[in-house]
Amino acid sequence: MARHSTLGVLGAGEVGRAIAAQAVRHGHEVVIGNRRGPGTLRGLVGELGATARAGTAEQAAEADIVFLAVPFFAVPDLTDLTAWAGEIVVDTTNQFAAADPWRGRYDVGDLTGSEWVARRLPGARIVKALNTLFAPFIAADPRHTEGRQVAFYAGDDADAKTVVAGLLEAFGFAALDLGGLREGGRLMQLDGPLSAKHLLLQDVG
Ligand SMILES: NC(=O)c1ccc[n+]([C@@H]2O[C@H](COP(=O)([O-])OP(=O)(O)OC[C@H]3O[C@@H](n4cnc5c(N)ncnc54)[C@H](OP(=O)(O)O)[C@@H]3O)[C@@H](O)[C@H]2O)c1
Repeated sequence: MARHSTLGVLGAGEVGRAIAAQAVRHGHEVVIGNRRGPGTLRGLVGELGATARAGTAEQAAEADIVFLAVPFFAVPDLTDLTAWAGEIVVDTTNQFAAADPWRGRYDVGDLTGSEWVARRLPGARIVKALNTLFAPFIAADPRHTEGRQVAFYAGDDADAKTVVAGLLEAFGFAALDLGGLREGGRLMQLDGPLSAKHLLLQDVG
C-alpha cells in the first residue's frame, strides 16, 4: 500500500478522531465523516492537520481503506452509502445495542459482531481491529519503553489483512493476527477473552 493512500474514517467520535490523528501523523490523507455532516467537523480537521479534510459520510466511505468507527447499531444505516464490494473496511465496532452501554448487547444470533457487520456491507473485505483498545490507547503513540501496544486483527480476506497489518505496524502497533472473523472475532469482540485487554509486546533481538 502506498504510504500516502487516502484513509476514510466513518465516525468522528473518540475512536474516529484517534484513528484520524494516527493516520495524519503517519503521512496519510484522511477524509473523516460523521452523521451530521462536514460542517460540524471544521474545528476537528483544523486540529488534525493539513492532510485531513472533512467529508460527507459517502466521501469517507469511498476512500481506499475505510475505518468504521460508528456505533454498532448505526451500521445498517451504512449499507447504501457506497458500493462496498472489494473495499477494505476496518471494523472497530463493539456490539452495544444502544449508546448507553447498560442497555446491553445487540442480538446478532450465532454470528460474531464482524460477521454481522460484513453482511450489512455487501462484498466489503472486513478486518476487525482496534475494537479491543480504549480510545486513548488508539490515539497514543503505541511505542512504549516497555514494548509496543498490541493491536489484534482478524479477517477472512488475506490480502486485506496484510494491508491492515502493515498500516497498524506503520502506526507503531504490534499487529497480531487472530485468524478469521469467526474464531478471531469471537476472541476480540465484547465479552471475548481479549476484549479491553491492553497488552504490550516486547521485541527481542
Ligand atoms: N470509545 C472507545 O473507547 C471505543 C474503543 C474501541 C471501540 N469502540 C467502538 O468504536 C465505535 C465508535 O465509538 P466512539 O466511542 O468513537 O463513538 P462516539 O464517540 O459515540 O462517536 C460515534 C460517531 O459515529 C458517527 N455516526 C453515527 N451514526 C452514523 C452514521 N449513520 N453515519 C455516519 N456517522 C455516524 C457519529 O456522528 P455524529 O457525531 O454526527 O452523530 C459520531 O461521530 C463504536 O462501535 C464503539 O463500540 C469504542
